[in-house]
Amino acid sequence: MARPQVSIILPTYNESQNILEMLRSIRESIPHSVSAQAIVVDDNSPDGTGRIVEEHKRGMKQVAGYTIDVIHRRAKAGLGAAILQGIGHARGETIVVMDSDMSHPPHIIPKLLDALRHRCDIAVASRYIRGGRIDGWPARRKIISWGASTIARRVLGITARDPMSGFFAFRRNLVEGVSLDGIGFKVLMEMLVKIRGARITEVPYTFRDRRLGSSKMGGRAIADYCRSVGRLYLHGGAEPRDSVRFLSKAARFYTVGASGFLVNYAISLLFTQMPQFWYLHANLLGIAASITSNFLLNKTWTFQDRDFGARRTLIQYAKFVGFGSAGAAVQLGIVYSMVEGGWSYPVSLAAGVLTAALSNFLLNKKWTFGEKLWGG
Ligand code: GDD
Ligand code: MN
Repeated sequence: MARPQVSIILPTYNESQNILEMLRSIRESIPHSVSAQAIVVDDNSPDGTGRIVEEHKRGMKQVAGYTIDVIHRRAKAGLGAAILQGIGHARGETIVVMDSDMSHPPHIIPKLLDALRHRCDIAVASRYIRGGRIDGWPARRKIISWGASTIARRVLGITARDPMSGFFAFRRNLVEGVSLDGIGFKVLMEMLVKIRGARITEVPYTFRDRRLGSSKMGGRAIADYCRSVGRLYLHGGAEPRDSVRFLSKAARFYTVGASGFLVNYAISLLFTQMPQFWYLHANLLGIAASITSNFLLNKTWTFQDRDFGARRTLIQYAKFVGFGSAGAAVQLGIVYSMVEGGWSYPVSLAAGVLTAALSNFLLNKKWTFGEKLWGG
């Protein structure tokens, strides 16, 4: 058959009571002028869903413009993974993803295709915009779903009202070259984060809880959801987020600081072994060596600055030493004024050391290595 215009991905696990009704209803909903490929992705359902679809195919009258493919996977390996495998198999220019349990009404498909043709890159069938609703869910499910959507919107900066939807459509070339990991139930959420700038349209519909069979959404899906939000937060679109970069640079800066203690100690000890060295001179060498190694590590590793022009490097080095000393002075000042002001020494010391350490990082970040305080 020539390329179908639309591929409809139907993941199934124990949907023997629903899948044929689903296929029938889809076929009725798609206009005859549109050629379609239904792809059932079955995870070796114990209730024989995969086999039932194969039999149905065999008994089906061949008609131009409509095919059913079945992908048999060896074992239950998650909804997201099944959807991605279906997408990989799809030949249609447009792809529709939906559940196979009659919760997603097929008569919405033409509206999604229409939205896609006219004004967007991803068309989402939505329960949470005007005109959309949920029929038959207990309060517990509603709360979980609402909470998950709110977190996705707040934490990941997604604007769609129903990022948890399992019913959506897009053009196949939209996901070419995008690496989706398909953890858990949330393929749409992953697409919304990773394909920044995609135009989204939401089409309202009524989600009807399944009449037959049972839901596979459980603790596992919730744990997967949390993992997925964590990973997508770190991913944050095309580039890591400012907060992540800031913290990872701070972590590197203080790791370098800790390594400085070792260098200082080792060099001081080494030169004390030499008879001609006075131990305080050996100490000075240790200090100088640790400052220098700290500087070089921060330049190349923490701030990834590979420009070793002599003048630039010397100026940076001077600033680095200067801010280090300023930090020491700040620490002394804070400890002195706090202790004199009646604070206990341990508390004052902690305040002094922390302030010095933080200002040291920030001053060097901004003035020695020329980055923005927060981003960069
Ligand atoms: N192949 C395969 N493998 N299919 C699976 C698997 C799996 O491991 N797990 C679930 N499915 C299929 C089911 O057979 C069904 O067709 C569809 O995926 C959705 O699973 P349900 O178990 O019916 O999910 P739900 O109704 O509780 O959850 C619905 O609401 C969520 C939003 O709150 C679904 O629409 C989800 O997609 C949606 O995210
Ligand atoms: Mn369902």
